[in-house]
Amino acid sequence: MTTRKILVTSALPYANGSIHLGHLVEYIQTDIWVRFQKMQGNEVHYVCADDTHGTPIMLRAEKEGITPEQLIARVWQEHYDDFSEFHVEFDHYGSTNSTETRESAETIYRTLRDKNLIEVRSIEQYYDPVKNMFLPDRFIKGECPKCAAKDQYGDNCEVCGAAYAPTELISPYSAVSGANPELRNSDHYFFKLSADSCQQFLRNWTKSGTLQTEAANKMQEWLGIEGENKLSDWDISRDAPYFGFEIPDAPGKYFYVWLDAPVGYMGSFKQLCNKKPHPRPNPPNPPIPPLSGGSQSGRETDTPPLARGGWEGLFDEFWKAGSKTELYHFIGKDILYFHALFWPAMLEHAGFRTPTKLFAHGFLTVNGEKMSKSRGTFITARSYVDHIKNTEYLRYYYASKLNGTMEDLDLSLDDFVTKVNSDLIGKYVNIASRCAGFISKRFDGKLGNTDAAASAEFQAAFTGGEIARCYENRDFSRALREIMRLADVANQYIAEKKPWELAKQEGKDAELLEVCSTALTLFRDLTRYLKPVLPKLAAQVEAFLNIPPMIWDDQWAALGSGHVINTYQHLATRLDPKLVEAMVAANQESLPPSPASVQGETVQSEQRHAVHQQHTASIEVAQAEKDFEPFISIEDFAKVDLRVARIVNAEQVEGAAKLLKLTLDIGDGNSRTVFAGIKSAYDPENLKGRLTVMVANLTPRKMKFGLSEGMVLAASGEASGLFILSPDDGAQPGMRIK
Ligand code: 2FM
Ligand code: ZN
Repeated sequence: MTTRKILVTSALPYANGSIHLGHLVEYIQTDIWVRFQKMQGNEVHYVCADDTHGTPIMLRAEKEGITPEQLIARVWQEHYDDFSEFHVEFDHYGSTNSTETRESAETIYRTLRDKNLIEVRSIEQYYDPVKNMFLPDRFIKGECPKCAAKDQYGDNCEVCGAAYAPTELISPYSAVSGANPELRNSDHYFFKLSADSCQQFLRNWTKSGTLQTEAANKMQEWLGIEGENKLSDWDISRDAPYFGFEIPDAPGKYFYVWLDAPVGYMGSFKQLCNKKPHPRPNPPNPPIPPLSGGSQSGRETDTPPLARGGWEGLFDEFWKAGSKTELYHFIGKDILYFHALFWPAMLEHAGFRTPTKLFAHGFLTVNGEKMSKSRGTFITARSYVDHIKNTEYLRYYYASKLNGTMEDLDLSLDDFVTKVNSDLIGKYVNIASRCAGFISKRFDGKLGNTDAAASAEFQAAFTGGEIARCYENRDFSRALREIMRLADVANQYIAEKKPWELAKQEGKDAELLEVCSTALTLFRDLTRYLKPVLPKLAAQVEAFLNIPPMIWDDQWAALGSGHVINTYQHLATRLDPKLVEAMVAANQESLPPSPASVQGETVQSEQRHAVHQQHTASIEVAQAEKDFEPFISIEDFAKVDLRVARIVNAEQVEGAAKLLKLTLDIGDGNSRTVFAGIKSAYDPENLKGRLTVMVANLTPRKMKFGLSEGMVLAASGEASGLFILSPDDGAQPGMRIK
């Protein structure tokens, strides 16, 4: 099979906001796909960068009293750390504020200009006379011309949804200084998207299989029917003051942030080429140097000098027109317009290759609704890490919902907990936790032969390259369904063979070894298929099974008799729903967004402080209740002798505030006395004759009122009440509960 050469990008996040769970849908989706491709042995380069330019970033820095360069360096680190926590492993994470991006942007611009595809026109625009700057639409506010709602943005009304030009706003004001804006003229640079060559190219390109069907249909709408020139020219310049790249032949004019943002894909890849050693494997992420410098000060990101060797020429190999390599952009459906029209048209006419495919995804909803600060569902990556810690849970959940379409993805928080606990822990991790202990304790960690029949059954259940096909098509939900089906086969095998019973029987050692060795081999295979989704867990399994990093190899082979594994350590614990509740509480903001929220500000207030305290308290409760071992082995559970018991007598205990004295019949004429703390909930007379459940082998405890010889089981929770257990009809005293 020939090795594919693939360059993959995720959209570049803005350098003035935190990464949140909505962003992560895309980065996790891309990372899973990239990891799958790398496991297939393909040459894959995954690059991304911070999107650092534009007015909001300039103003945000000013507000914080720092330079834009300082702001973007700080946010870059935050973003990089957040992505690392979620195991999103870029081959390079750069910045659009780099020499490489500037060079590529200038090259593209010059070529377009030389081809007569750039035009200068004077336009009239609102100007803030106090701040001495032209105002982007989002920085002008006023009354909606349609419904008269106050404080609406210059491009659309959040109350009635109307779209309009800023000049239509009633009583406009600058959201930056509050001043009355003035209309002024200025020269702007336009990319002539309306040119026949652009329209014709886009008409063909958007129909050539580069887009998902839904996206291609959208494009046809934007392009109009053949001969109908619906596209208008694109304004690619902004006036000073602006944080960005100055246009080479136009002093005081800067490239609009959306021009150099996608060029950042090229810039970041160029940085990767410059720092890669040769030859060209897929090494783990090399350390990334901190960023410095910026365009306005003339200082820019430094990258190491071009390495001599196999990486030279790589940039051209991937970006030259007619390149045989593949280029994929993962994006949100909201930025399709930029990626499916402006970007390919720019590339094509500047003499570069165009993307092989755009993979657009939908938005994230939480509990079926838009993410909301007031509901606490606008959750940052950092907050998730602080509360839930295990980021592979979210990777697993997102993967279980992603299907390669533009449909929105819903994070139902209850379903999240259920899916993690029932599938990931209950079906997958449990295979190892139920079998590994026997190998270590009984067989010195050495595996034996595997059960040929079971292996054959597992292989039969495994439908060839189906899982690989699902990953390739980004239908991760289907891939996971297939994998869980295989996990069911493995669990069924374990349930039939009952290694915990074999372990207690004389002369069954060989069978026990075979069952556990088979189960662990199946576990190894499941891990391989889950590895793109759960890279950290897979690495832990590789360490536990003492095997090299797994690649995508569909050949089924046993781990081998005599192979020594390491002692099993917990791979993952159940997800406590209280941690999710605490996370939501921590993200809940009780005030409406402030008018200053144009710069992505969040409301800080005493109320927020109160929410913070409340959330700290709920974490403590959650942690106190989590004192249980997340898993106990079946052997540990088997140590507890649970029996059906008949309450033959129940009486008050003089001097005891909470206790009742119970006399329990546990069959064969055996009776036990138990002092139970259930006085608040039961009248002793009503208990007499009832069946219940007791722990029969609890060490007897000497109490002030006598010896207690066991314990009856009762349920209690946050709601009031105490409830002793009853077996179903037909159970007899002395029956074992297991
Ligand atoms: O929408 C956004 O968040 C942009 N910063 C995405 C840019 S993607 C690419 F074009 F750089
Ligand atoms: Zn309105």
